[in-house]
Amino acid sequence: MIILGIETSCDETALSIIEINDDTSGSTEVKIIANEILSQIALHKQYGGVFPMVAKREHAKNLVPLFRKIIAESNFLESRITNHELKSGLQNHSHILKNVRMILEREPELLKRFLEFIPTMGKPPTRPVRNRECSQRDSAYNGIDLIAVTAGPGLEPCLWTGINFAKALSLAWHIPVVATNHMEGHILVSLLKRNEELSIINYQLSIPEFPALALLISGGHTELVLIKEWLNYEIVGRTRDDALGEAFDKVARILGLPYPGGPAISALAEKQRQLGGEASKLALPRPMLHSNNLDFSFSGLKTAVLYLVKKLPAPIDEKTKAEIAREFEDAATEVVVEKVKKAIKLYGVETLILGGGVVANKNIRRAFEKLANESGIALKLPAIDHTTDNALMIVLAGYFNRNNAVTETSGLLELKANGNLSFPYTKM
Ligand code: KG4
Ligand code: ZN
Repeated sequence: MIILGIETSCDETALSIIEINDDTSGSTEVKIIANEILSQIALHKQYGGVFPMVAKREHAKNLVPLFRKIIAESNFLESRITNHELKSGLQNHSHILKNVRMILEREPELLKRFLEFIPTMGKPPTRPVRNRECSQRDSAYNGIDLIAVTAGPGLEPCLWTGINFAKALSLAWHIPVVATNHMEGHILVSLLKRNEELSIINYQLSIPEFPALALLISGGHTELVLIKEWLNYEIVGRTRDDALGEAFDKVARILGLPYPGGPAISALAEKQRQLGGEASKLALPRPMLHSNNLDFSFSGLKTAVLYLVKKLPAPIDEKTKAEIAREFEDAATEVVVEKVKKAIKLYGVETLILGGGVVANKNIRRAFEKLANESGIALKLPAIDHTTDNALMIVLAGYFNRNNAVTETSGLLELKANGNLSFPYTKM
């Protein structure tokens, strides 16, 4: 089936059109038709963080142009309707238009752009079409069967924009919508394995050995999720204060490094490691390393950096900055590795899955590769470009929850954003 994915939970507007089917061997085949991400990092950099209302405004501005782009990339263009059809099409379906206007009532920018584009385009066809222009592909694609949208967790105003877009599209084109959990997406996308033999981007998703454990580390989350069986999630450890990505971002700010802090700290720390030598003498704590549970705490680590910097003569020199970056990264890595080790032992884990933006961190990836080698468990690491928020992961979460999809007559209008959506995942 073909799924449109919509992700607007934070500062990335992401859309994708993915063909996804179970194959005969019991795994799932995932073919990328179009996959686009529009990052707002450049905009939020000046504020040193994400402002929800600014992010929402950007999603509203960017969704339709980005949608046009993925539709064009998908060879759906043959479905562009003629002027005659246009006149008798959506423009005249007054009840649909009325509902679209109602849904997008609080999204004037999105409504304007939606009405400029969507009525000029028929629903992408639901039967195969021939397209002479797409010679690199065997055939053009069927229409969109399902819309998967992030319902949470995330910044609620931003989530609403994506959900409202999904609802409006669903009404205009009669496509069901499935609300998805962003964190489940981070888990599932890490299970993809690229099929290198094919010229188009194609992945295979196989069900891992259970019990599996997912370490989710992003700007908003740090949690350990136990997966005893397929699609059954239980949080067994979480941060009591800051998320790991948040700690990277805050420490970067203390050190005068740009937002987002993760990549900046990581680059400095890597350089420092390459210089060789021992870890810094500027020792930082390893919070909750030996605590008798699977929880984390990173706010104390950040405060320790702050006190350290305050004690040093200002402005701190580049060498000291790099030493602190390395020590902070070492401390953070050590804590997450230790907690995962503890959980592996406690639950007899067979597969370790890493997900979330912080998994782009080289030091953390290396540490878990070493752990997997030593302990003999299977490690599922996402491709670097799948660590950041994307819509492919939302499609995966939508596909495996497709039985929860709603339509105009079965609950579409009640579909809601939930900024604190958590596991166990419940149908909204
Ligand atoms: O998953 P994500 O894209 O968005 C959220 O859902 O939060 O994660 C973003 C977070 C940011 O805090 C960013 O600083 C962090 O991931 N990050 C990194 C690295 N790249 C991104 N943290 C450490 N090292 C990196 N290389
Ligand atoms: Zn995320």
